[in-house]
Amino acid sequence: MNVVILAAGMGKRMQSALPKVLHPLAGKPLLSHVIDTARSLSPSKLCVIYGHGGAAVLEHLESQKAKGGMEISAALQEPQLGTGHAVMQGLPELDDNAPTLILYGDVPLTTAASLQRLIDAAGHDKLGILTVVLDDPFGLGRIVRHGGAIVRIVEEKDASPNERKIQEINSGIMVAPTAKLRQWLAALGNDNAQGEYYLTDIVAQAVDEGVDVVSAHPGAPWEVLGVNSKTQLAQLERIHQNNIAQTLLEKGVTLADPARIDVRGELLCGRDVTIDVGCVFEGKVELADGVTVGPNCVLVNARIEAGANIKPFCHIEDAVVGPASQIGPYARLRPGTVLGEDVHVGNFVEIKNSQVAAHSKANHLAYVGDATVGSRVNIGAGTITCNYDGANKFRTVIEDDAFIGSDSQLVAPVTVGAGATLGAGTTLTKDAPAGKLTISRPKQLTIEGWKRPVKVKK
Ligand code: UD1
Ligand code: CA
Repeated sequence: MNVVILAAGMGKRMQSALPKVLHPLAGKPLLSHVIDTARSLSPSKLCVIYGHGGAAVLEHLESQKAKGGMEISAALQEPQLGTGHAVMQGLPELDDNAPTLILYGDVPLTTAASLQRLIDAAGHDKLGILTVVLDDPFGLGRIVRHGGAIVRIVEEKDASPNERKIQEINSGIMVAPTAKLRQWLAALGNDNAQGEYYLTDIVAQAVDEGVDVVSAHPGAPWEVLGVNSKTQLAQLERIHQNNIAQTLLEKGVTLADPARIDVRGELLCGRDVTIDVGCVFEGKVELADGVTVGPNCVLVNARIEAGANIKPFCHIEDAVVGPASQIGPYARLRPGTVLGEDVHVGNFVEIKNSQVAAHSKANHLAYVGDATVGSRVNIGAGTITCNYDGANKFRTVIEDDAFIGSDSQLVAPVTVGAGATLGAGTTLTKDAPAGKLTISRPKQLTIEGWKRPVKVKK
């Protein structure tokens, strides 16, 4: 099968410098949704028709190719003279021995299952149209039938008052035998209300030639909704998020409110996972069995292992949280953080590019960066690894069972030996030997007879 994706329209109503098909839905450009669905049908040819914002669209296509998968060709449509004219630009790329499926870069939510039904209905020699019956069909092409059979499609602007009453609409998505498609497109005229070459006019040609025209219907009407404005983009985003939430619920995930979760990527959940309101998941996030995520957390490319508890207001990115760990509230785990089992990270603690082994704790106000922390280590409040000298970064090593007193600065590169204790307020610039107390602050001093100054009377 060949797939042609129309993406040349300019999307004026988006009021944006970004080409319409590159606006994100669930964190991914609209066009990528369509390309991913098309790829799941394993087409032999995939061609994107681009026009407005050409450079940006081409750049995006390059990045899609880099992700692997099949070749994507691109054809420029300039100027844009209608949907039929758009498909014509892709014809040199298409293989006549297979039918051609026409998709739209701004219709992101069509499921592969619905497309497969259309493809199956059309076979190799029929023209297939994905149609849907809408309460309000205004603005869309209407499916005109005689005695049940489709005879043509008429655009809103060209329709008679009676035709405008038809509620069955053209989604725009079609499958056509490719050699016939070439012939029909070559014969299109633009004598209509918009002066455009309408793809939809191939239907009447097929009927004239005795080619069967069949229809299939999407599983739900939202599958064929397109994006022309930010309002429609927001509506589709909510539909898509609701679908994701329903799938999570069906798999047994507890959602405090399915209307208040946003998944912008892939969220994989084990059994008995609970997610509170206002959480955002980006990239690939895995929540293992029994994980709890409190309200208002942002998790990006993260793996949270079994039984861990992410308390409210945490930000976790490119990090692994070990089993039964307790994170937050208000913790930030930055890229390269790998926490072992039963690690406790409390409020206002930031960890970056560090490994923290089992049962270690940093419960309050700390920065742990470029550090290797052993097991059962206690990092006191206000501890900071000074990993950066303004030019280079260095590692801090804290071995098993060390105790770092509050308000210490560990000036890397430095090692705290196993079982060592640092007194509160230590500025560690040399290694602290294992098993001993190291302290860098001056001895405490009390000045006898000292008096507080008193206010001078004027
Ligand atoms: C088209 C259909 C209409 C259908 C509707 C569904 C035609 C003539 N009409 O309407 O029956 O109900 O879609 O939304 O086909 N595009 C190009 N190049 C062009 C023109 C359009 O790439 O020259 C792309 C647009 O970017 C868009 C899609 O084709 O993705 C549909 O174009 P749009 O103008 O939104 O649809 P209509 O022509 O109004
Ligand atoms: Ca149009």
